[in-house]
Amino acid sequence: MSLYARITGTGSALPPKRLTNDDMVTLLAARGLQTSDAWIVERTGIRARHFVEPGTDASDLAVQASLRALQAAGRQPHEVDLIVVATSTPDMVFPSTASIVQRKLHEAAQAQGDQGPIGAPAFDVQAVCTGFIYALTVADALLRTGTARCALVVGAEVFSRLLNFDDRTTCVLFGDGAGAVVLEAAEHDGSGAGILASDIHADGRHTGILCVPGTVAGGQVLGDPLLRMDGQAVFKLAVGVLEETARATLAKAGKTEADIDWLIPHQANIRIMQSTARKLRLPMERVVVTVDRHGNTSAASIPLALDHAVRAGQVRPGQLLLLEGVGAGFTWGAVLVRY
Ligand code: ACO
Repeated sequence: MSLYARITGTGSALPPKRLTNDDMVTLLAARGLQTSDAWIVERTGIRARHFVEPGTDASDLAVQASLRALQAAGRQPHEVDLIVVATSTPDMVFPSTASIVQRKLHEAAQAQGDQGPIGAPAFDVQAVCTGFIYALTVADALLRTGTARCALVVGAEVFSRLLNFDDRTTCVLFGDGAGAVVLEAAEHDGSGAGILASDIHADGRHTGILCVPGTVAGGQVLGDPLLRMDGQAVFKLAVGVLEETARATLAKAGKTEADIDWLIPHQANIRIMQSTARKLRLPMERVVVTVDRHGNTSAASIPLALDHAVRAGQVRPGQLLLLEGVGAGFTWGAVLVRY
């Protein structure tokens, strides 16, 4: 009997501090820059984003999302035997955010008289906005080979820490948040549920169009530690590769776009999502859209959108979901799941 990896629980977390587009207008005006709710909504579909307060890190959001996902799956932290965290905004240079998440889950579990996931392998995946797709693909492979049985796969970001608030073309686009899924190995039970196919790619020739070029060396930050983006170059590349990876993933599973119940794309920009849906001939009614409420949360955006759709009753057992992402690197990919 072959093993499949099934999503058995989802969870997400947004920090309490919410900034509407009008709040961004005020924030930028204080720096002598102009923007407007109309410009942001028309170009991106974003209406609000959440920013962490100082002292809250990616691991804190990751733990909140993970505990909600574990509760939804009916699992205890000690049952987790693999933690993969997709993030480009780790708490520190090292150790990994996944290790910190493990410690915090252990502490949360101990407070409930339980043991945490101590001893389980834990590592980060860095593929920026495609991070969750990469993390899910890696965890799926480890579950199908029997290396792990119950994985936490998390996307967690604090992009507000990387934003240049003197650059109106980028700072209005991003926000903070986390999403998580519990992924469990199961023998096929006839329902067909589980990850059916995945497809991941990178093209390192485009590292410069979206990057945070700074680094830490000799006790100092070297180079610019803030986000830079050539928005139009990203847009053009994104719409092409998202169609390609969607078709490649469907073909691997012997499916077509007509079989998709829900497209759950990376939530960067409503126009990229509309363009992908058009190319796949999917009505927008079958696309999960949450970018309006949290902006682009990079690796967190797909699991945030998935959790929203599950809790809103949109995504139901047995449905076919195509998750897909694109981001800096340039990276892109998709995962096809029978929920
Ligand atoms: N408010 C008001 N005006 C603005 C703002 C702002 N926040 N930002 C830029 N403008 C102005 C520009 O200065 C320019 O003015 P000008 O015509 O007088 O020179 C005008 O708006 C048009 O600027 P463009 O950069 O050409 O705007 P464009 O239509 O390309 O939209 C955007 C910019 C939204 C970034 C778009 O290129 C885009 O969606 N790119 C995709 C990138 C993306 O979504 N990245 C997310 C991260 S990547 C990822 O997750 C895959």
